[in-house]
Amino acid sequence: MALLATLREDLRNARAHDPAARGDVENALVYSGLHAIWAHRLAHRMWARPALRGPARILMQAVRAFTGIEIHPGATIGRRFFIDHGMGVVIGETAEIGDDVMLYHGVTLGGRTLQQVKRHPTIGNRVTIGAGAKVLGPLTIGDDSAVGANAVVTRDVPAESIATGIPAVVRQRSAKEREQAVDPTSYIDPAMYI
Ligand SMILES: CC(C)(COP(=O)(O)OP(=O)(O)OC[C@H]1O[C@@H](n2cnc3c(N)ncnc32)[C@H](O)[C@@H]1OP(=O)(O)O)[C@@H](O)C(=O)NCCC(=O)NCCS
Repeated sequence: MALLATLREDLRNARAHDPAARGDVENALVYSGLHAIWAHRLAHRMWARPALRGPARILMQAVRAFTGIEIHPGATIGRRFFIDHGMGVVIGETAEIGDDVMLYHGVTLGGRTLQQVKRHPTIGNRVTIGAGAKVLGPLTIGDDSAVGANAVVTRDVPAESIATGIPAVVRQRSAKEREQAVDPTSYIDPAMYI
């Protein structure tokens, strides 16, 4: 996808995920989630070339310093990825993230082994992961699922499920719940922003 088209899609996506979002120029300046994913898209390309792996790590560490978001350049991330609030997010080297995924602050997609193997989660499409949730190990979160705020997930979560608690307990997700979990307007009053 062309660079400009990707930037536009990311900006549209930011507006779709946050009713507090206003003009694209302002959003491009203030959303640390956008800064982090844009830097990662560049760093991920650099990571594919062994000679540029060092600079890719340095770039992402610099971005971490001012966004509070640490994404390893090796992580694979799909389209329309959005991190709201940002601070404290960690995404490990072998994490794989599908399209239309949303994370809140404090989410860790981490490993549970020190071996150099696939050790981070695989996140399906249209998944929302709540603030402070820890998703640990090479497990899979199925499409259209949600992980509740502060959950600790160490096992696979099937598609269309909700995982909450420590350790996370999984239940099926109804269509109504799906809208509520993905749409921030369900807990932010738009009248406050007029
Ligand atoms: C997990 C989540 C997706 C469930 O949403 P939902 O389907 O609308 O669930 P409900 O609000 O109807 O709650 C259903 C039950 O789960 C409980 N529950 C909800 N979220 C929970 C969580 N994160 N951890 C533990 N239990 C939770 C509720 O207390 C309720 O329990 P009850 O049936 O005993 O009363 C949602 O609560 C959540 O955590 N979203 C993340 C939001 C977030 O991180 N926002 C940050 C904004 S800055």
